[in-house]
Amino acid sequence: MQTIYYDLRNIKGQQREVEEKISAAAKILREGGLVGIPTETVYGLGANGLDSEAVNRIFQAKGRPQDNPLILHLSGAQWLPRYCADIPPIAYVLARKFWPGPLTMILKRKPIVPDETTAGLDTVGVRCPNHPVTLAIIREAGVPIAAPSANASGRPSCTSAQDVLEDMNGKIDGVVDGGSCSVGVESTILDLTVTPPRLLRPGGLSLEALEQLIGHIDVDAAVTRSMKEGEQPRAPGMKYRHYAPKAPVTVVTGAPKASAQEIAARVHLGDGVICFDEFAHLFPEQTVQCIGHSSDKLTQAQRVFEALRSFDNSEVKEIYAQCPDEHGLGLAVGNRLKKAAGFHVIEADRMRVVLGITGCTGAGKSTALEVLEELGGVVIDCDKVYHQMLAEDENMRNAINAAFPGVFQADGKLNRQKLGQEVFSRKDRLEKLNQIVYTYLPPEVERRVAAMDADLFAIDAINLLESGLDRLCDRTVAVTAPTELRVRRIMARDNITEQYARLRISAQNSDEYYRSKCDCELNNGSELPETFRKEAHIFFEKLLDTIRQEKRGKIV
Ligand code: TXA
Ligand code: MG
Repeated sequence: MQTIYYDLRNIKGQQREVEEKISAAAKILREGGLVGIPTETVYGLGANGLDSEAVNRIFQAKGRPQDNPLILHLSGAQWLPRYCADIPPIAYVLARKFWPGPLTMILKRKPIVPDETTAGLDTVGVRCPNHPVTLAIIREAGVPIAAPSANASGRPSCTSAQDVLEDMNGKIDGVVDGGSCSVGVESTILDLTVTPPRLLRPGGLSLEALEQLIGHIDVDAAVTRSMKEGEQPRAPGMKYRHYAPKAPVTVVTGAPKASAQEIAARVHLGDGVICFDEFAHLFPEQTVQCIGHSSDKLTQAQRVFEALRSFDNSEVKEIYAQCPDEHGLGLAVGNRLKKAAGFHVIEADRMRVVLGITGCTGAGKSTALEVLEELGGVVIDCDKVYHQMLAEDENMRNAINAAFPGVFQADGKLNRQKLGQEVFSRKDRLEKLNQIVYTYLPPEVERRVAAMDADLFAIDAINLLESGLDRLCDRTVAVTAPTELRVRRIMARDNITEQYARLRISAQNSDEYYRSKCDCELNNGSELPETFRKEAHIFFEKLLDTIRQEKRGKIV
């Protein structure tokens, strides 16, 4: 069979020629033939959806399993009652907002739709594609067009007419070239025969956009994981290994930087890598496919299938792919990558480093923390967290109130002076208070670390070691300085007498205490603040390197 190529990339201008090509394609379809057609998502392999013999040819050409139903492509919502029964009003709400566009709705079917199209199900998938050429062809054909993605079964979907020819040349009657697909991943499939509606396949329309219009949507398990034995996804097609290049694929999830580093630590010479643009330089000895910047999910969607396909023309033995997060189009891009990997997924360790910084007044803790901030760290000031908790944390407040009745005023505010009087004169009472704080503070700090999107944290606490906060840290760092220097610094900083400065220092733990209990020491023996800043910079850079290397070693 010869596959006729219709070039309709440019539909402005030669009106007659365009119309002729559209009529020719529509005629093939009406007469039971197969035509590759462009849509905004991926190319489809179209046939008359009401003609069971034509539909059978689709399954043959693709090598598609018979139990996998096809989507009917309509010219608009006005066609819904012809093919669907019991249509809920919400279907029209969705169609008004999102059609033409990348949304497929599963509805009850009418008997006019043959079993071949629905694979014997009593439901049918319908969508109105957003591509002027294909809309014109459907209108001209006057029948709904059944169209799966135009790839050979199991291969990555086609996002250009060239891809279609690669898989289907000689097996189908024609291909209509409408340019490359603007969305790049298939339509989102939403089952409207159940309540609440259920997402069967993430796609070109985001879950968030759908939920904004119609409220909560359940997500089918097949979207995020592989099916267990005997388990049936509701979209039959979701159970097949799919989109797979010939070489095995490993998907790495996690923050972009972390997943890039994770891949960099694993790849060998000659492997394939699918990565975000900004990390390409990490893979000089690999075959790299960039799918866009990590923040540009539309470009990722447009490029993901082409990237997967490209490796079949190369010698790569293994492929690693960075996975976007699940927001917006990321859910669909990630789903396609994971399916291509047969759900072989590795979670990149966040590679988070948590440092505990402690030491006496005047030693230079603040400068050390500023340096860590310059290095991208988030500083958690535990004194501040403690005061916030005194005001807001019900559990800690209750515990304090039980131990020191009357320290909270009628308006709920803590009378700090009163609490101070209670504990400062009596050691046992201070210990009691500390015990309470040390119970509630570390978990709260831990929660804050987990909730923040950063790779480096500095926990700033004078009682880091006593409170148990040190257990959250990869390393504890004692900032120390000669006593005479500290005396002078405190005098200048707090504008106090030498005698008072010495008194304050003697009331605190000694450098020796911190030195012996912390993992490492940053000594500030310099008269010049700028010198210490530079020293601290070098010290922390080296420390972070060591810790990150250790962590990487552990993952592999
Ligand atoms: O964007 C798209 O949807 C593209 C373009 C060409 O429109 N088409 C597409 O078709 O992706 P296909 O056949 O590759 O994927 C259709 C998916 C399959 O997973 C199939 O199992 C599911 O839709 N499906 C079709 N009818 C269904 C039904 N009645 N109930 C549940 N799932 C259905
Ligand atoms: Mg498909």
